Amino acid sequence: MEPLLTVHQLTKYYGDLRACDRISFDLYPGQVLGIIGESGSGKSTLLHGLVSHVPLDGGEITYRDREDRCIDLRTLAEPRRRRLMKTEWGFVQQNPRDGLRMTVTAGANIGERLLDIGDRHYGHIRHEALAWLKEVEIPGDRIDHFPTTFSGGMQQRLQLARILVTRPRLVLMDEPTGGLDVSVQARLLDLMRSLVRTLNLSVILVTHDIGVVRLLAHRLMVMQNGQVVEAGLTDQVLDDPHHPYTQQLVNATLIP
Ligand SMILES: Nc1ncnc2c1ncn2[C@@H]1O[C@H](COP(=O)(O)OP(=O)(O)O)[C@@H](O)[C@H]1O
Ligand SMILES: [Mg+2]
Repeated sequence: MEPLLTVHQLTKYYGDLRACDRISFDLYPGQVLGIIGESGSGKSTLLHGLVSHVPLDGGEITYRDREDRCIDLRTLAEPRRRRLMKTEWGFVQQNPRDGLRMTVTAGANIGERLLDIGDRHYGHIRHEALAWLKEVEIPGDRIDHFPTTFSGGMQQRLQLARILVTRPRLVLMDEPTGGLDVSVQARLLDLMRSLVRTLNLSVILVTHDIGVVRLLAHRLMVMQNGQVVEAGLTDQVLDDPHHPYTQQLVNATLIP
């Protein structure tokens, strides 16, 4: 099987600060790659670099699209890149305010993504919005409510519905469960796990929570100061950590 995404030596500086230092990995279809590391280790910069929200200083990003074409994302013309991001990629933000539009209804938040890719059939858009609300366990009668009236967990589930409506193949998530209560987190994680399976999603999941990667990630990359210090199968890395920083992370979660 060919990788869906290949990242080679991705590098980003902020002035003298190396936020991402020659990061390389492959992501295969249906795989969840967890990225863990303390605050400031470069996790968000990596995700934002992948979607060109921040300009990079080096590296290559190759994506295999639905038509099985290998696309060099760093040289792709902007309109094509933007369309690809809307049709094949999705981004779940830590803060729902960054991933949702709070001034339009839940239904409009979902429908907007379809409008963006050229769907002009109102009945179809409404039907899809309802179907995806149901899929993420939001009652259909909330379709005309504003996300500001939703709980934190519901807002995150609405972010999922908003991106999944265009059937993305690759979903990037930046601390999707951050700031949620433990029971709300558990429900969101269950939902994410079942969606990943049923939709065969490839996911890059950034978190600082070892419990989250244990539950969801097949593979794991540990970042510290912009560098990958350890990578491998999640269970192997967590059960037998080699790098002192990973050992410290694992021990910190074992000792209350
Ligand atoms: N826009 C920016 N300008 C300058 N420095 C930044 C900017 N964004 C992030 N950084 C710095 O880059 C490093 C990595 O940040 P970030 O990717 O947000 O880490 P993480 O998501 O792992 O917490 C941190 O030292 C942070 O202070
Ligand atoms: Mg971050």
